[in-house]
Amino acid sequence: MSKSAFSYSSIAKKIVMSLAGLFLTSFLVVHLIINLLILFDDSRELFNQAAHFMATNALIQVFQYVLFFGFILHIILGLILQIQNWVARPIRYEKKGFSELSYFSKFMIHTGAIIFIFLIIHFVNFFIKAKFGHIEPITYASGTYEDLGLLIVKLFEDGGYVIFYVISILLLGFHLDHGFQSAFQSLGLNHSRYTPFIKAFGTIFSIALTLGFITIPLVIYFS
Ligand code: HEM
Repeated sequence: MSKSAFSYSSIAKKIVMSLAGLFLTSFLVVHLIINLLILFDDSRELFNQAAHFMATNALIQVFQYVLFFGFILHIILGLILQIQNWVARPIRYEKKGFSELSYFSKFMIHTGAIIFIFLIIHFVNFFIKAKFGHIEPITYASGTYEDLGLLIVKLFEDGGYVIFYVISILLLGFHLDHGFQSAFQSLGLNHSRYTPFIKAFGTIFSIALTLGFITIPLVIYFS
């Protein structure tokens, strides 16, 4: 492949990867809002109702396939780009260039790998049980639902899982913080006027999402 074709295909990969990343981020917002419902009532009715809606709505079932495809695309392209980067630049950055990057931007592949491991464990904890296992039903005045909320409460009574989730979500926050601004850069939306705003928005957004997700295991464990 010629050098220009090589860099063109790298840019194309970065663009697709950024779009997939931004799409995954939008999933996280919805996922957080629904999960936070579990903290609102001890009966878990609101959360179980919302989870029931998500599990039975046809449009959301289609969206779930798009979501898995987005994850796989983001992971595979991230891996390819990182390997290309290692091959093209076997000698490390000079110290000056290296330090110009934010600390966690150097570890996107590492934080990404930990998030991947987290996701596998997370799927075993919830998704596989919800889809293929038996979840005890619970009856409220509004109807009978699978008590998925109880699965969350039971998991976060275990301090080991709480620590694992908190650390993983913190790393997700750092991954998102750099990923957000980097996605806009890859999409060519780079401007001296708007870039500082995008960076600041990305950081505030990542902190809010991280705090939101971390609150759930902590509140359940300590209440
Ligand atoms: C306190 C934190 C979290 C809780 C309590 C939680 C809870 C859950 C539950 C109960 C499910 C199963 C839903 C179902 O299949 O009906 C699920 C699925 C899922 N979670 Fe989480 N989650 C948390 C954090 C995260 C994070 C940080 C990520 C991403 C890095 C994530 C990604 C996913 C994905 C991709 C699915 C499968 C898609 C889906 O079912 O909608 N979750 N989560």
